[in-house]
Amino acid sequence: MDGSGVKIAGVGHYAPAGILTNEDLEKVLDTNDEWITTRTGMKRRHVSAPNEATSDLALAAARRALESASLTPEDIDCYIVATVTPDFPFPATACLVASKLGAQSKAAFDIEIACSGFIYGLTVAASMIRSGVYKRILLIGAETLTKIVNKKDRGTAILFGDGAGAVVLERSTTDCFLSSELGSDGSRPEILRVAAGGSRYAMDPLRYDAGEQYIYMEGREVFKFAVNKMVDATEAALKKAHLKHSDLGFLIPHQANKRIIDAAAKYLDMPSDKVLVNIQEYGNTSAASIPMALSEAVEKGKLHDGDIIIFVGFGGGLSWGAVAWKWIALAQAERAA
Ligand code: ACO
Repeated sequence: MDGSGVKIAGVGHYAPAGILTNEDLEKVLDTNDEWITTRTGMKRRHVSAPNEATSDLALAAARRALESASLTPEDIDCYIVATVTPDFPFPATACLVASKLGAQSKAAFDIEIACSGFIYGLTVAASMIRSGVYKRILLIGAETLTKIVNKKDRGTAILFGDGAGAVVLERSTTDCFLSSELGSDGSRPEILRVAAGGSRYAMDPLRYDAGEQYIYMEGREVFKFAVNKMVDATEAALKKAHLKHSDLGFLIPHQANKRIIDAAAKYLDMPSDKVLVNIQEYGNTSAASIPMALSEAVEKGKLHDGDIIIFVGFGGGLSWGAVAWKWIALAQAERAA
């Protein structure tokens, strides 16, 4: 396990048992399956129970990732959770997850950069391992977005779901981290945010009645930005890694809207079988969507040694990012050697 590189040694994902279908939404909102399917690609979302918080979902995904890496919580040096739906404003959800796993005194912190959370987290975690700070990091993207969605707003209520995806990152002789491109533009927070409850607009009865505790999004504005940034970030990450489009094995994009993914894939000249999409089952799970799609792909045996993957996402901030990654099998041969 020596070396100054980093690999993914384990993956896992978890989606809560509750299901919300387009037909369920038809019954309570002025919407229909046809609109939702053609505009977003979504069919179902998983919904956490009232007593299920983000750390519960994160814990389940983390356990699966540890199992797939044949490691115990004590083997992990640092826990990171990417989320916009923490259990509490503080303490960090990562502290709760590490503690629930029984990991004592380990480093733990959250990353809050909305749907770009996994990309930022992967860059931070890989950098900490490559620079020698830690040997193993458990990075989890986990969200319970259905708890901050206005169920009466058809523009957002149809989009979001709950879930968690986790990866164990481990020091390695092979370096799988090829490049990262991260960006942000905080000049227009009002087009995508939860307005109240922070230090800018404290929650009060008027804001509560106005629904400012919920996600607000100007969908069309976000859509335009999303396609451009997915393409630009992917191009930049490829360039930094001295790779061409033709080197790309798989695109694992943030699952916000099938039309956004398709448009970006078209610009990037990626055939649809190389673009991993599970939006029909989970909707938009923000920071969880990329590690969930990765974990499913591994489960289905889609990835092979040497495949070049681009993880790419965008979201609130506004923020965006892409990481170029060389896939190597999860097998623990290297550790045992
Ligand atoms: N059912 C039926 N009609 C609807 C619905 C609905 N659920 N929602 C909106 N409409 C209507 C609108 O009222 C509008 O009607 P009008 O023409 O009479 O005014 C019409 O459909 C078109 O509305 P648009 O908002 O222009 O629809 P659009 O094609 O842009 O699709 C969508 C909306 C799906 C939200 C899209 O804009 C989108 O995906 N945007 C990006 C979202 C995203 O990527 N978010 C990621 C970040 S999330 C985060 O960071 C936490």
